[in-house]
Amino acid sequence: MVRADFPYFSHHPQDVYLDSAATTHKPSVVIEAVRACYENYAPIHRGLYRSSVELSDQYEQVRSTAAAFIGAIPEEIIFTKNATEGLNLLAHGLPLAESWKEGDEVIVSVADHHAVILPWQEAAKRHGLSLRYLELDEQGAIDLESLSSILSERTKAIAITHVSNTLGSITDLPRLRDILTTRGSEAIVIADACQSVAHFPISVGSLGADFLVFSGHKLYAPAGTGVLWGRESMLSSLPPLLTGGDMVVQVGRLESAYLPPPQRFEAGTPATEAVIGLGAALGYLSQVGMEAVRQHTHDLALAFFDQLRPVPGLSILASPHPDSGIISFSMQGVHAHDVAQFLGDRRICVRAGQQCAALAHGAMGVPASVRVSLGIYSTPEDIAPLVTGLTDLYHLFHG
Ligand code: ALA
Repeated sequence: MVRADFPYFSHHPQDVYLDSAATTHKPSVVIEAVRACYENYAPIHRGLYRSSVELSDQYEQVRSTAAAFIGAIPEEIIFTKNATEGLNLLAHGLPLAESWKEGDEVIVSVADHHAVILPWQEAAKRHGLSLRYLELDEQGAIDLESLSSILSERTKAIAITHVSNTLGSITDLPRLRDILTTRGSEAIVIADACQSVAHFPISVGSLGADFLVFSGHKLYAPAGTGVLWGRESMLSSLPPLLTGGDMVVQVGRLESAYLPPPQRFEAGTPATEAVIGLGAALGYLSQVGMEAVRQHTHDLALAFFDQLRPVPGLSILASPHPDSGIISFSMQGVHAHDVAQFLGDRRICVRAGQQCAALAHGAMGVPASVRVSLGIYSTPEDIAPLVTGLTDLYHLFHG
């Protein structure tokens, strides 16, 4: 689709890169934006001189770009270092509200990434909360219809993956919201959009979530960037995770007053150049068009399914949605790490192991899996080397 825009592939022409759910390569426009930022560098939000004011304006412009990308308003966009930080911020801050009491409940799912589950495990220990789990349905997707059976008056929040980084399933968040509304639940919905925002258009207005997080590095932007989106009404009562410079309105010896969101959540000097790169990545994706990205991923994923299914000994995990660009599988009699090593020796880049989703593997009854994940630079030419590699490996192990 746009491979020529990504210098990685001219530096590594032999690589078959199928690990975009772990991280994505960066287009030239992003690399150039970071370079230009360094060439005009200054501290932001502090200097009263021209280079500082100009870079501060550019930085704030990225907030508007990020807001437009997901149908939000700039005041609702918090820059974080990654999705993990956003998720920790929420698990830290939400239970501090007066309305949360010991014994309250938070729902997560077995399909969730560790970055969704672990912050709530810690919060549960700190605040005496109970964690409840949504399980998988027969297709290996999160079983939303079982939500009613674990939802209670004490359910305060539901933290859930939008697209599973392992199973490739898509969570129907509007349906989740409908269930909550029908049950009269005011539970806060937190969506991990790391694996969705890079693959198809998202509009927070119709998604049904109250908070949403994603990482820049999975979205063709530099690492060290992430976005936490939250409804303005909810952000305004949320305490910060980090305190320090650039987020206070008044500092006293014992107490200080914090700025309103988004500044309240952005203590310290940020990764300015990376955020500028994030703006370039979002601009780039908007130019390609997220509907076109979805179509590309969808069509290519179907071609991968078709050609992977006949590979001897290969079982595709669950029923991945083609829009996710994620296909996890196992090979009969061969450990996932051996599969990845064998492919890696042929310069085919995949991820193997539990993929930061141990509970999803437990629920599927497999110790580990191999994951192929697509990006906008993936092409049909990536399929044949993978299929040949897996077929050769099967014959190597099984004669
Ligand atoms: N969460 C990233 C992945 O799924 C690291 O590979």
